[in-house]
Amino acid sequence: MKNTFGQSVAITLFGESHGQAIGAVLDGLAPGIKIDEAYIRTRLSLRSARSNISTPRSETDQFEFVSGIHNGITTGTPIGIVIPNMDTRSKDYQITEHLLRPGHADYTAYTKYHGYQDIRGGGHFSGRITAALVCAGAICMHALEQKNIFIGTHIKECAGISDDSFADYRQNSPELKQQVKDVSVKVFPVINNVKGELMQQAILDAKNESDSVGGILETCVLGIDAGLGEPWFDTLESILAHGLFSIPAVKGVSFGLGFDFADKKGSQVNDSPVIHDGNIAFLSNHNGGINGGISNGMPLLYQTAIKPTSSISKPQPTIDILQKKNTTLEIHGRHDPAIVHRAREVVNAMTALILCDVYALRYGTDWIAK
Ligand SMILES: Cc1cc2nc3c(=O)[nH]c(=O)nc-3n(C[C@H](O)[C@H](O)[C@H](O)COP(=O)(O)O)c2cc1C
Repeated sequence: MKNTFGQSVAITLFGESHGQAIGAVLDGLAPGIKIDEAYIRTRLSLRSARSNISTPRSETDQFEFVSGIHNGITTGTPIGIVIPNMDTRSKDYQITEHLLRPGHADYTAYTKYHGYQDIRGGGHFSGRITAALVCAGAICMHALEQKNIFIGTHIKECAGISDDSFADYRQNSPELKQQVKDVSVKVFPVINNVKGELMQQAILDAKNESDSVGGILETCVLGIDAGLGEPWFDTLESILAHGLFSIPAVKGVSFGLGFDFADKKGSQVNDSPVIHDGNIAFLSNHNGGINGGISNGMPLLYQTAIKPTSSISKPQPTIDILQKKNTTLEIHGRHDPAIVHRAREVVNAMTALILCDVYALRYGTDWIAK
């Protein structure tokens, strides 16, 4: 029953949505990394994304480092992160306490924990826990940026509306670098703002219909070296997929062209190597920067599908788990009509944690701080 992920740089998550606090232990990070608290606050605010298209729950996400950091610099020992829960309203859940929310983890939590789980606000399965993940990931993301590695995620699709694609596929493209940096700090991260307005309107429409919508995120990582990952069970794809599928509401992950490879010919999608300015590069990046499980030096490019939020106030058939009776559920807690724009920061954080881990495995713990 472990809640730990990572080999050299590892994260453990703890807490429940309506408990005293949530938090993380980030272990294995090098000594000597400068902590930028303003940077971490910005990343946390992108996850909370407060607006009329997000949950009305208003958490300040006041994080506290209780170990592993001294005078604003990592010591190399486990970093303990605690974020108190300030805006809980558990009574919202009391009336429907024994009614299983369709699409949520209520039934599976019941089967695993025999009814002892804290169900308030989704307990340990709540998206709330991702604040601790984002806080830990922000430490890693900031450290990676000092090494010229940049992570940017945009909403490729939401409610059936598509954003523009990234402009280029080359590591050193100034336009791509600008796009990655831009989407990385946008509250609603799209390349085309007009498409972004349409998406936000579709989210509001779903909210007004007591419903919810999903979407697809696309992540681009710039500056990553060739040679990271293992050939079989710890391929870079499988480690990233493991981490990304751990994020609540993620139901699909694909790399490069992903499922679109299936109906193409080899001649259309092979990425040919080329010597450019004395360096090896590729003429395209259909494989999303990974071949044989190992990074090839092109930008990493992958997509993450986020399902529509399961907690909707439309009446839905369900069961009362105590009375073992069929019934109907209307959910009146505070929920997101879409998660996709908030989940993007969780995807960024997970990516940063994994990259710190694979870099440490290849070049040693201290590489990131040098
Ligand atoms: C940032 C974030 C916020 C979330 N907020 C909600 C929410 O308000 N309501 C809800 O039903 N699910 C929310 N979820 C998703 C649920 O936690 C998730 O669907 C549930 O745990 C079941 O897991 P699964 O969808 O991966 O099977 C959120 C997820 C994330 C990443």
